[in-house]
Amino acid sequence: MSIRVEDYFAPATFSKIKKFADRQETPFVVVDLDTISRAYDDLAENFPFAKIYFAVKANPAIEITELLHKKGSSFDIASIYELDKVLSCGVQPEQISYGNTIKKARDVRYFYEKGVRMFATDSAQDLRNIAKAAPGSKIYVRILTEGSGSADWPLSRKFGCQTDMAMDLLVLARELGLVPYGVSFHVGSQQREIGVWDAAIGKVKNIFQRLRDDHDIQLKMINLGGGFPANYLTKTNPLKTYAEEIIRFLHDDFGDELPEIILEPGRSLVANAGVVVSEVVLVSRKSRMAIERWVFTDVGKFSGLIETMDEAIKFPIWTEKQGELENVIIAGPTCDSADIMYEDYKYGLPLNLASGDRLYWLSTGAYTTSYSAVEFNGFPPLKSFCI
Ligand SMILES: Cc1ncc(COP(=O)(O)O)c(C=O)c1O
Repeated sequence: MSIRVEDYFAPATFSKIKKFADRQETPFVVVDLDTISRAYDDLAENFPFAKIYFAVKANPAIEITELLHKKGSSFDIASIYELDKVLSCGVQPEQISYGNTIKKARDVRYFYEKGVRMFATDSAQDLRNIAKAAPGSKIYVRILTEGSGSADWPLSRKFGCQTDMAMDLLVLARELGLVPYGVSFHVGSQQREIGVWDAAIGKVKNIFQRLRDDHDIQLKMINLGGGFPANYLTKTNPLKTYAEEIIRFLHDDFGDELPEIILEPGRSLVANAGVVVSEVVLVSRKSRMAIERWVFTDVGKFSGLIETMDEAIKFPIWTEKQGELENVIIAGPTCDSADIMYEDYKYGLPLNLASGDRLYWLSTGAYTTSYSAVEFNGFPPLKSFCI
């Protein structure tokens, strides 16, 4: 199957990226800031009442934080290091939520000292830490959701708690002098099944009602997480369809007066803006009669393409070379046999592909630089350019 760049990028955008890329030595990722700006506007238009907290982990490039800060975004932050980064861009502490449920008490204190007052939790120990280190702060509890089967990069099990425990924690939050503020969930990244938001919002409604009726606690906020799609090989519905459906689910459960709604997009804002550019290092076969060729390229699982693990995310791969296609196994440059990106899914690349040819990995603006190893086999981390 050959990839049509125009299914992923407007011709003018790709030509701008390509022109820049032609002057750089591979491997690297180029991220087009205009594309991110449009993705932000698109999300804001589709969810006009929601507050957007960009999940910085998806791409921590300073230029992206600066751009989204200028556009009025808030930020979902996972660590003290991300916190320092966004604060250095002039982001105000009120625009920050500490969304990681796994954190040290001293890191909670650090956030509090910097002025952050909104924290996610999913356990009593973490909640007690927050009560001590960040007294009086707003708490939202993350619940477990279904949907791992239909998400290309599931985030289930490790984060969140069952509904009953969520209610216990919100009641405990009040006892500890915190503000029981809301409920969050994440239905899994690159979630292809929109109905899973329905089930999750239904659980949230139940928590809102029972806390109001049984404990006189009026929650104020729902954090719908991320999970919105990027444009990879496996097709999804457009964002507009996600938004229309999710808004319908919200009104079905909460009527006309919605609580404060937060979105935490990562992938959907930045993935489509990026292109990893790599070079073919070697093309070989394992025997004279072998049907499949191996294509080794100078990026791999350890230089930003970890989401090819279990071939979960299927990036569109484009090359300028034309000609008859043949199935290939695509692998990275390191001495680790796990460094094979695609073997089961049959990518076709031209038979005349040779060392030195470039491969363009489209839609790679999310979770590439942030996942790149620092020095595996001595290879430096993936270079990143924002244009
Ligand atoms: C708490 C939280 N919010 C938001 C996101 C972003 O999700 P996505 O990239 O699917 O939009 C993540 C991703 O890991 C997350 O952990």
